[in-house]
Amino acid sequence: MWQGLILSDEVNPWELLVLAEHAALEAARFIVERRPADLGVAETKSSPTDVVTEMDTGAEQLIRKAVLERRPDDGFLGEEGGADSGASGVRWVIDPIDGTVNYLYGLPAFAVSIGVEVGGTTVAGVVAAPLMGEVYTAVRGAGAWCNGAPVKARPATGLGDALVATGFGYRAERRRRQGEIVRALLPRVRDIRRGGSAALDLCAVAAGRLDGYFERGTHAWDCSAGALIATEAGAVVGGFHGAEAGEPMVIAAPRGTFTALHDALVELGADATDY
Ligand code: IPD
Repeated sequence: MWQGLILSDEVNPWELLVLAEHAALEAARFIVERRPADLGVAETKSSPTDVVTEMDTGAEQLIRKAVLERRPDDGFLGEEGGADSGASGVRWVIDPIDGTVNYLYGLPAFAVSIGVEVGGTTVAGVVAAPLMGEVYTAVRGAGAWCNGAPVKARPATGLGDALVATGFGYRAERRRRQGEIVRALLPRVRDIRRGGSAALDLCAVAAGRLDGYFERGTHAWDCSAGALIATEAGAVVGGFHGAEAGEPMVIAAPRGTFTALHDALVELGADATDY
């Protein structure tokens, strides 16, 4: 469907990418420059979490404004600002700060993530990590880049040689189950990482810095851009039993690794629906 749309003068994925990158960089500058230096430790009038929420909301507003100035009929799905379907068939899926806990503590692994959908398919994406000095981009069918240089996922590997990242949800019961799965998986893989940003984990798979990534409970805004970037870099991104990647599961890895990781997770009961 979107292929028909990009033939029109109005919707060109490269133009969407340019606008997405412009908006992401503006938001990235905002969250770095406006972050109070002592956010994680100082006693502030409000709690540090409130300050992060303020930064999140401010960054998302900047992105929406930058988009609406050029494309007033587009829709949005944002972590802070909710959903608005728009009238153009183009939707911007925004996580103004993915890796908010890293941001809170001053760890560099946080990013602005923007995926752009046309007719429900993500056609362009950007993940900008200002303290890492990295901007990942992708256009569907055309490739994925880091700071303008093409990125490529690693060749597939056996599970025993795989460096695998994952993440944990915010709910205690879900975290307990996720912890049990990781405990059982750990002896079967090279090692496990918990980076704290799903968008950057997906970009790390794209850049060949990880053999795989999996997580239950992510939202569309965490993964929209990163999933396109990983796919365009040659990884497979999907869920359990042939389902698309989504809230129940996101797995990203080169094909052979994807299958090994998927099957191991199923064997460990990670596809259960009660957590
Ligand atoms: C979170 C991060 C984290 C993942 C969580 C996400 P947020 O997003 O991506 O790595 O494990 O599932 O919710 O809250 O920092 O935008």
